[in-house]
Amino acid sequence: MENITDQRHIMLRVEEKRRESPAFATLFFDYCLAFKPGQFIMVWIPGMDEKPYTISYHSKTRFAITIEAKGLFSRKAVSLDKGALVGIRGPFGNGFDIYPDSSAAVIAGGCGMAPLATLVEKLGKNTVFIHGARSKDYILYPDRFDIQRQFCTDDGSFGYKGFVTDLLKQQIESGRQFDHVYACGPEIMMAAVFDLCEEHHIPCQVSLERYMRCGFGVCGACVCGSQIVCKDGPVFNSTALRDMVDFNKKALLKSGKEVDLSLYFSWRCQ
Ligand SMILES: Cc1cc2nc3c(=O)[nH]c(=O)nc-3n(C[C@H](O)[C@H](O)[C@H](O)COP(=O)(O)OP(=O)(O)OC[C@H]3O[C@@H](n4cnc5c(N)ncnc54)[C@H](O)[C@@H]3O)c2cc1C
Ligand code: FES
Repeated sequence: MENITDQRHIMLRVEEKRRESPAFATLFFDYCLAFKPGQFIMVWIPGMDEKPYTISYHSKTRFAITIEAKGLFSRKAVSLDKGALVGIRGPFGNGFDIYPDSSAAVIAGGCGMAPLATLVEKLGKNTVFIHGARSKDYILYPDRFDIQRQFCTDDGSFGYKGFVTDLLKQQIESGRQFDHVYACGPEIMMAAVFDLCEEHHIPCQVSLERYMRCGFGVCGACVCGSQIVCKDGPVFNSTALRDMVDFNKKALLKSGKEVDLSLYFSWRCQ
C-alpha cells in the first residue's frame, strides 16, 4: 500500500458519489491508501479551501469520505459529482488503538459515525454499537454493518428517544463488562461518555475536532491545552483526557482567538 506524500496534494477524481441521506454524501476515490481507523486527510477543493475529513470507507483499492452539509465548504463538497477533481493530503493523526478480541462499546453521535465505521469493521462481534442522532435523517449508514446497532434520536423519530449515554448506562448497569469504549460525536456527548467510563473504570478513546490548517503539527491552529490535536490526536485516551484542561471547555477560532467551546461550534468561518 502506498502512503500519500504528507505535504503535497495528490489530485484525485471522485469515482462514485453516494447520497446517504438528505444531510450526508459519501465520495469514493479509487486509490490505495495506507490508513488506520480514526486517521484523517486534508481535502482541498481548488479555488475554495482545504478541510479535514475522516476516512469512512476503506479497502485495498479505494477509500471514501462522508460529509455532512453544513457551511459553504461542506455544502460544496456534498455537491461534487463523479469526475470532480479534489486534492488530498495525508493520512494524518494517530487513529484508534484496536484490541480485536476484547469487549468494546462504540458510541457514535451524528457524523461522528464516520471515523467509527472503519473501526467497527475491525472489531469483533463482541461489540455493543450505539448510534445517536438528532433525528432519523441524520442516522448515517443505517444498513451498513454486520453487527447490531442500538439507535436513539433526540426527537424519537428513530429508535429510543434520548441520549447515547442513557443506552450505554443501561448496558453497564445490566452487568455488561466492557474492556474499551470508543466515542466520536459532539464534544459534550464525548465528555458525558468519558465521565461514565471514569465512574466505571473503563478505558475510553475519543476523537476530537479542532480548527485545522496544516494537519501535521506545524501551525498550532488545533492546539487544545498542551495537546496538538492533528498530531497527538485526533484520538485521545482516558489518560490524556484527564490532563486535558480544555476538553469540552475551550477551542481556538480560525483567527487563533480562544473561545468557549459552544461559541467555537456555532462559529461560521466563511
Ligand atoms: C479530524 C477531523 C475530522 C473530521 N471529519 C469529518 C467527517 O468525516 N465528515 C464531516 O462532515 N466533517 C468532518 N470534520 C469537520 C470538517 O472538517 C468541517 O469542519 C465541516 O465539514 C464543516 O465545514 P464548513 O466549512 O462547511 O462549515 P462552517 O459552517 O464554515 O463551519 C462549521 C464548523 O466546522 C468547524 N470547522 C470549520 N473549518 C474547519 C477546519 N479547517 N478544521 C476543523 N474544523 C473546522 C468549526 O467548528 C465550525 O464552527 C472533521 C474535522 C476534523 C478536525
Ligand atoms: S492543524 Fe496545524 S498544528 Fe494542527
